[in-house]
Amino acid sequence: MCVVEKSDVDVHVVSLAAEGTGSAPIAMREPTASFFEALSGIHKDAFAALDEEGWSGSSIEDLYNHEGVSFFIAAIGDAPKAFAIVRAVAGEAELLTIATNPQAQNKGLSVVILNKIIAHLKRGRIDRLFLEVRSDNAPALGLYKKAGFKNMGVRKNYYKTRAGVLFDACTLVKNIR
Ligand SMILES: CC(C)(COP(=O)(O)OP(=O)(O)OC[C@H]1O[C@@H](n2cnc3c(N)ncnc32)[C@H](O)[C@@H]1OP(=O)(O)O)[C@@H](O)C(=O)NCCC(=O)NCCS
Repeated sequence: MCVVEKSDVDVHVVSLAAEGTGSAPIAMREPTASFFEALSGIHKDAFAALDEEGWSGSSIEDLYNHEGVSFFIAAIGDAPKAFAIVRAVAGEAELLTIATNPQAQNKGLSVVILNKIIAHLKRGRIDRLFLEVRSDNAPALGLYKKAGFKNMGVRKNYYKTRAGVLFDACTLVKNIR
């Protein structure tokens, strides 16, 4: 595994070899619309399992252009398979989203991404990382528990599925430093 950081636009690429060991860095250029569409495809496919709309390429591109926002992408070969978006403001950060392509799930990609995020926030002297997760989302709750997040509270009826079913959000936090 190798890690490539594109410092000028704050994109962090975690590159995983197709066979699991060793890899060439992904050559990141200025992201194109097709790059954001690829992330949107991952997001839509991943969130379909929760009966939620994934994000469009243009909404992901909008976030990319926001101050304090970082992207973390796990790729196998040249193809992005999982990504996360984090926003940091005034010493605190929020995990805005994380998603793994359904065919690439349960291979440890999200753990690699979260570890990369935490190392990045430590270097940036960020104290805490917050997130919200649907109360019935067992894979995500398992991931965050494993990463050391703690429960902070509940937001009632925070999520609405495409079918109109409401779910609570659990607010979680991890101390970074
Ligand atoms: C949550 C999600 C990002 C996990 O991605 P992933 O790359 O498959 O996760 P990993 O393979 O790194 O697994 C890490 C840990 O997550 C937990 N986990 C993953 N899938 C799980 C499942 N189906 N059930 C319970 N725990 C699960 C486990 O603790 C796992 O560690 P382990 O393999 O040692 O048991 C992925 O399932 C996904 O994209 N879900 C849809 C989108 C989503 O829910 N995003 C989070 C919104 S808050």
